[in-house]
Formats: sequence, structure tokens, C-alpha cells
Amino acid sequence: MKRVALFASGGGSNAEALMAAMEGDFPARARLVFTNDATAGVLEKAEARGVPTEVLDHKPFKGDRAAFEAELQRVIAPYEADILCLAGFMRVLTAGFLAPWEGRMLNIHPSLLPKYRGLHTHQRALDAGDAEHGCSVHEVIPELDAGPILGQARVSVQPGDDAATLAARVLVQEHKLYPAVLRRFAAGDRTPVILDAT
Ligand code: GAR
Repeated sequence: MKRVALFASGGGSNAEALMAAMEGDFPARARLVFTNDATAGVLEKAEARGVPTEVLDHKPFKGDRAAFEAELQRVIAPYEADILCLAGFMRVLTAGFLAPWEGRMLNIHPSLLPKYRGLHTHQRALDAGDAEHGCSVHEVIPELDAGPILGQARVSVQPGDDAATLAARVLVQEHKLYPAVLRRFAAGDRTPVILDAT
């Protein structure tokens, strides 16, 4: 049974979907929810499920990423996670932090990578006139929103969509895709999961 640490910065709907999935015959369990924001909604969701939480605000570190990451590593070490899932974690982690997690850290990103790394992915898909959009789960490497793709889910862009309606439809798929990928990954299978919205 793999031990999973979840990192989130906001509402944590993806973390919630992962926590909900990690029961029964699922080959992993949520052992920690970490957030960099003490007001993040994900904390309540973790507490409701009895998953331990840790908070480390990045702001007092004033841009000293190395110091923040050293403290972060110290905070999470006792949980002895096998896999780290970024689930709406909005801080960039440097190569120094990532090194010990190589091949063990996943991220969900709201675009069909390699399209639209970074922010504002839904608006960028609309601005480009894309007929389809979606989300990706990938292994984390130092390059932002890059790394081997472990799964993708597609949605069609509908007439009249704006960034909010599109984001909401993609999010529904995120909640299906991430648990499906983690289930495979935790079992040692890196074959990409491909989902098509029905
Ligand atoms: C999700 O759409 C996730 O894909 C995105 O933030 C949202 C978090 O929602 N992540 C990124 O943009 C990472 N760069 P959630 O807190 O409800 O899971």
C-alpha cells in the first residue's frame, strides 16, 4: 500500500477526489494534505476525512525558495510518503526539492499538454479557437508543466463557452482522471490513461 502526500493551495476539489478514491482495493492511501495557505478550503476537506494536515506559509520566506523548500521537506518527512501528488498546488518547486521525488511526483494541469503550460489555460484555449480542451496528469520534472504524460481527458469546447464554463467542465474530468492515473501509477503501471468526456 503506497503512502500518498497531497499538496494543494486552494479549494482542493482534486485532493478531495483523490482522498475519496483511496479506499478499498485502491493501492494507495492519503497520509498527508499539505498546503501553503492556512485559509485553503482543502484543510477542511482533509480534516473531514481524518487525513493529517500540515501548513507552511511561503510568504514569510519572501522569495527565498531554498529556505522555504528546506523547511517544507522537514515538515513532510515524518509522513514517509511514497508518492507526492500536486493537486492545485500553485507554487513552483525547484530542482533541489524535486530531486528526491524523481519518478514519484505527479501533477494535474488544466490543459492538453504540451499545450498551454502555466496559467490561464482555459482562456488561452478559447482565444486559440480550439475545438477541444482538457486536462493532463504528468510526472513532475524541474521544467514547469512538463514531464512524461500519464493521462489526459478531453472535453469539447462548446459554442458560448467562456473560461468559467470551460473550466467547470474540465474540472469534472480532472476528478475522474487523477484518481484513475494514481490507481495505475501506485500499482507500478505508467501506461497513460485516456478519458473522453461523454
Ligand atoms: C485545477 O483545475 C487544477 O488543474 C489547477 O488548479 C485547479 C485547482 O482546483 N492546477 C493548476 O493550474 C496547476 N498549475 P482544486 O483546488 O479544486 O483541485
